[in-house]
Amino acid sequence: MPVAHLTLDPAFSVGPVRRNTFGTFVEHLGRCVYTGIYEPDHPTATADGFRGDVLALTRELEVSTVRYPGGNFVSGYRWEDGTGPRAQRPRRLDLAWHSTETNEVGVDEFVTWCREAGTEPMMAVNLGTRGAQEALDLLEYCNVPSGTHYSDLRRANGAQAPHDIKFWCLGNEMDGPWQIGHKTAREYGRLAAETARAMRMIDEDLTLVACGSSSSSMPTFGTWEREVLEEAYEHVDLISAHAYYAEHDGDLASFLASAVDMDHFIESVSATADAVRAAGKHTKKIGISFDEWNVWYQHRAESRPPSGQDWPVAPVLLQDKYNVADAVVVGNLLISLLRHTERVHAASLAQLVNVIAPIMTEPGGRAWKQTIFHPFALTSAHAAGQVLDVAVRAPQTQTAKFGDVPLLDAVATREEETGALSVFVVNRSVTEPLTLEADVRALGELQVVEAVTLANPDPYLAATPDNQDQVAPQPNSTATVTEGRLAAQLPPVSWTMLRLAP
Ligand code: AHR
Repeated sequence: MPVAHLTLDPAFSVGPVRRNTFGTFVEHLGRCVYTGIYEPDHPTATADGFRGDVLALTRELEVSTVRYPGGNFVSGYRWEDGTGPRAQRPRRLDLAWHSTETNEVGVDEFVTWCREAGTEPMMAVNLGTRGAQEALDLLEYCNVPSGTHYSDLRRANGAQAPHDIKFWCLGNEMDGPWQIGHKTAREYGRLAAETARAMRMIDEDLTLVACGSSSSSMPTFGTWEREVLEEAYEHVDLISAHAYYAEHDGDLASFLASAVDMDHFIESVSATADAVRAAGKHTKKIGISFDEWNVWYQHRAESRPPSGQDWPVAPVLLQDKYNVADAVVVGNLLISLLRHTERVHAASLAQLVNVIAPIMTEPGGRAWKQTIFHPFALTSAHAAGQVLDVAVRAPQTQTAKFGDVPLLDAVATREEETGALSVFVVNRSVTEPLTLEADVRALGELQVVEAVTLANPDPYLAATPDNQDQVAPQPNSTATVTEGRLAAQLPPVSWTMLRLAP
């Protein structure tokens, strides 16, 4: 059996685990909001009309932040439509997803939902059809305590205390020709800079995210980041990155190596941001908000919006069903995000419910976990302390898309006070089990506290409401520590979490 070696040493760490790595995303898209987080007639509905079963699963995911309200949706959105008495809220065409938006849920309801879910809102402003003024109005509505037009309107609408939203995205995917109000990098960079500058006049204590590229395969990738940051460097804190992966033409080996692309994406944006920093003689460093990432089968029929005269409310859209291999890739993408914790200050799994999501619901019925729920929930719960700089020596495998890649990928985190260690590891082999051997002598005497593996003889097995146990991680009884050497057997196409403590 091939063997992969890791060396872990607390003297070599790359930075702290950042809670905001474990964000997700709620967009007014398909059934994410309506019959996703909100369904007043559902048997589990709270007094505010939110699905209690979805709230419970969201808490179990330990979600740090939730980006809202889009996505492509935000680039045509009028936030005022979603405020005030429900009966008077307008129904509008949502051009991004060719749907009808009823506006039953808006900013006030979303913030209430976040408080109930134990998470923080990350608000996006419309820089597609709108501009700095409307962003300022929304910020005033959310964060000014009282005594102005919009803050008093919020109070009249029932929210006495300010929402105090600290995390703001300056538009969405403005590099994409599909985006309403798509712009060149220079046009967008100027608008982002001016919007950011004015927003800080209302509230200095904001984290502001400029739009980066919507994928690393965009023809403008690299140039976009450079030009946007040349315009906006001093005014923003983070630049966004978006990436979706899928298996194409039965090439499972390349799909399992998707994190190679995420590594490349993060390292390229970091290099570009640092080049602008040097040329502009800036001192601060720009971080990355990887605020859309996931597996998404975009070519499937369910990703195609309705057309013609059909403008449905909350249609079935992007309801991807995830299998075991998809969960292994999601686990590996989290490994990549954590490995780059020095640069990646925030991330959002896109999305949360029904739309390319870890949680699925039936209208009026059950809510259940998709396969990708598990690596997210376990990594969010157990990655803590410092991310260690893991030295990996692993056999290589050939992939059509990325050339030779290591069969094993891993990251480890360690809490200094307790000495607790979490190791997250994937075996990317399509066919071969792999032995993991990790040298942990530098970490003192440790014992295995928990070892679980997500795998199945059929990597294409998907989760349904009726087979939840079959696709959940199972205890891995092969994990041992002997004389400072951690060993475990990793089945092909698998994601594993190993927790050790003194
Ligand atoms: O998450 C689905 C869509 O993907 C978002 O609306 C958009 O920002 C991205 O292209």
